[in-house]
Amino acid sequence: MFDSKNVADGPISSGCTVVLGMGGTIAGRATQVGDRVGYVAGQVPVNDLLLGIPTAQGLRVESEQVAQIDSKDMGHRHWLALAERVAHHLARQDVDAVVITHGTDTAEETAFFLQSVLRPSKPVVIACAMRPVTALVPDGPQNLSDAFSVAQHPGAHGVVLVCAGWIHAAHDVAKVHTTDLNAFDSGDAGALGRVMQHRVSCFRSWPQEGLAIDAQAAMAQLRSAERWPRVEVVVSHTDNDGALVKALLAQQALGAYALDGLVVAGTGNGTIHEGLQAALLEAQAQGVKVLVSSRCARGHVRQAPGDWPEGTDLSPVKARVALTLALLGLSD
Ligand code: SIN
Repeated sequence: MFDSKNVADGPISSGCTVVLGMGGTIAGRATQVGDRVGYVAGQVPVNDLLLGIPTAQGLRVESEQVAQIDSKDMGHRHWLALAERVAHHLARQDVDAVVITHGTDTAEETAFFLQSVLRPSKPVVIACAMRPVTALVPDGPQNLSDAFSVAQHPGAHGVVLVCAGWIHAAHDVAKVHTTDLNAFDSGDAGALGRVMQHRVSCFRSWPQEGLAIDAQAAMAQLRSAERWPRVEVVVSHTDNDGALVKALLAQQALGAYALDGLVVAGTGNGTIHEGLQAALLEAQAQGVKVLVSSRCARGHVRQAPGDWPEGTDLSPVKARVALTLALLGLSD
C-alpha cells in the first residue's frame, strides 16, 4: 500500500483501482538529475511511482508490476501478460478501474490491442510521461494523478490514454511529437476530453469499439494460439521496387519463418508504388494477407469498389494489431 493523499475537492469512492506497471519513461531514471535524454526507461517500481499521488477519498489502490521495460521493446508476450492481468482485475466486483503506467512510444498500440480484445465496461486508463522520474520537473506524477481522476469519472469506460491533461481514445490516439510534454493527438476524431484539477470534461463518447466476442473468449483464443501470426509493415515510397517484400518471401521459402500478413503504409489515400504493388500481389498469391493503410497522419483511406488491397482507416501500427488479431481468428 502506498502513501496517498485524498483529494479534498475530488470524487468520493468506496472501490478499488488497480495500477499495473509496464515501465516506460514514467518509471525512468537518469544518473544525473535533470538529464532528459540519457536516462533509462522502466527503472522505478510502480509502487514507488504512486507515492504522494492524490486519490479520491476512500479509494483503495493496489499495484502490480507486470513488466519493467522500455516500450519500444514491447512484445506479444508482454501484451498477453498485461491483458491477462487487466481482465483478471476488471472481473473483480470490488475493482472500479485499472490504471496502467506505460512508455509513450508504443502506448497507442497497447491501448488499441487492449480495447480490441477486452472492450472493457470499466475504465482502463494508460498513464505515461515524457520526462523521467529524475527530471527537474517530471510530468509523470501529474499524468498519473489525472489518470486516477479519469478512472473515477462517472460513466468512464473503455481504454483511454491520458497525457498532459488530454484524454484520448485507444482507436484514435497516436504519439505525434518526439519530445513535447503534450506528445499525443487523436487526429480528425479529436481528443475524448480534458482533465484538469481532478475535473473531467468530455467532448465525445467513451470508446465502444472492440471485437464482437467477449473478453474471456478472446483471451482464451490468445492464450491457446500456438504462435501469433507474423505481420510486417512496409512503407510505399519513391523508387520502391518491392525488394523488402521479395526478401521476406525468399526467407519464408527458405523456411526461416512464416510470413502471415503485410500492412502497407501507402501514400495519400492508400496508393502504392507499382513496384511494391507487384511484390504484394506475389505475396498474396503465396497466401500472405495484405492490408493497406496510409502514411498520412490524418484522414481516412477511401477505396473504390473492388480496390486491392483492402484498406483500413487505422494507422499502420494499429492496422498491424488488427490484422494480427484477424489472422488469429479474432475479428468481427
Ligand atoms: C518508452 O516508451 O518506454 C520510452 C519512451 C517514453 O516513455 O516516453
